[in-house]
Amino acid sequence: MTHSLVRIDSLSLTRPGGPVVLRDIAFDVALGERIGLVGPNGAGKSTLMLAMTGVLPATRGAVLVNGKPLPPGSFNPAIGLLFQQSEDQLFSPTVAEDVAFGARNLGLSGPKLDAAVNKALHRTGIADLAHRPVHHLSGGEKRLACLAGILVMEPSMLLLDEPSSALDIRNRRHLIELLDGMEQAMLIASHDLELVLELCSRVILIDQGEIVADGAAEGILGDARLMARHGQEVPHSLIPHTHLGHAHTT
Ligand SMILES: Nc1ncnc2c1ncn2[C@@H]1O[C@H](COP(=O)(O)OP(=O)(O)OP(=O)(O)O)[C@@H](O)[C@H]1O
Ligand SMILES: [Mg+2]
Repeated sequence: MTHSLVRIDSLSLTRPGGPVVLRDIAFDVALGERIGLVGPNGAGKSTLMLAMTGVLPATRGAVLVNGKPLPPGSFNPAIGLLFQQSEDQLFSPTVAEDVAFGARNLGLSGPKLDAAVNKALHRTGIADLAHRPVHHLSGGEKRLACLAGILVMEPSMLLLDEPSSALDIRNRRHLIELLDGMEQAMLIASHDLELVLELCSRVILIDQGEIVADGAAEGILGDARLMARHGQEVPHSLIPHTHLGHAHTT
């Protein structure tokens, strides 16, 4: 059996005074594995990611990293989260300072810190924006600044919440190539199912806080009935084509 890097063990989460948002979520993530997390609006994708990083404490269950339970509410630099809303993540005056924040927290300083920040800015293609105020960036530029802020910490698992949102076609392609070239395990929450197909061999489909399918990406995303039942559509590239258009198979 492959080594389990992260284990989600019967995790449930109820918002204070609110509904049950996650119900008995359980799955393992192997070293280097890339998993797409799909499901309708409000399914619980972002909540699951916040629980996995300790931002939101789970009501029941646990998150284990390398077999060790993450203490509730604690931050673990082994898991890096790209927030769905960039504004929730950026808070320093400039891009370079924002990217440096995480690395400094891990104990880097001086030339080592500068080198790590430069590397992250170059990898995400935003070296030119280093000294710009974060609140003057466009939506897509903010997305890339947030990603640089995660990569600089070199986490062993990345949780990416809608990573391609706000990106233009060129930056989306650059993001896919960047992620595809990385060794880290990833959980990618996205409504961009073509991106999920390109990057992930496995998909977890969640609806109303529960896992309804977990398996091979093409099998789940290509299952028209399953997808329709959970408010999803089969991505275009998995629909059989005739030379005149789509074949009608149902
Ligand atoms: N701060 C909050 N307090 C109470 N309920 C919340 C809070 N944030 C989110 N929720 C609720 O939790 C549920 C799950 O939300 P979540 O943001 O995890 O969904 P999601 O799958 O990420 O959706 P989307 O595709 O729209 O990003 C929703 O019903 C939402 O209304
Ligand atoms: Mg979300």
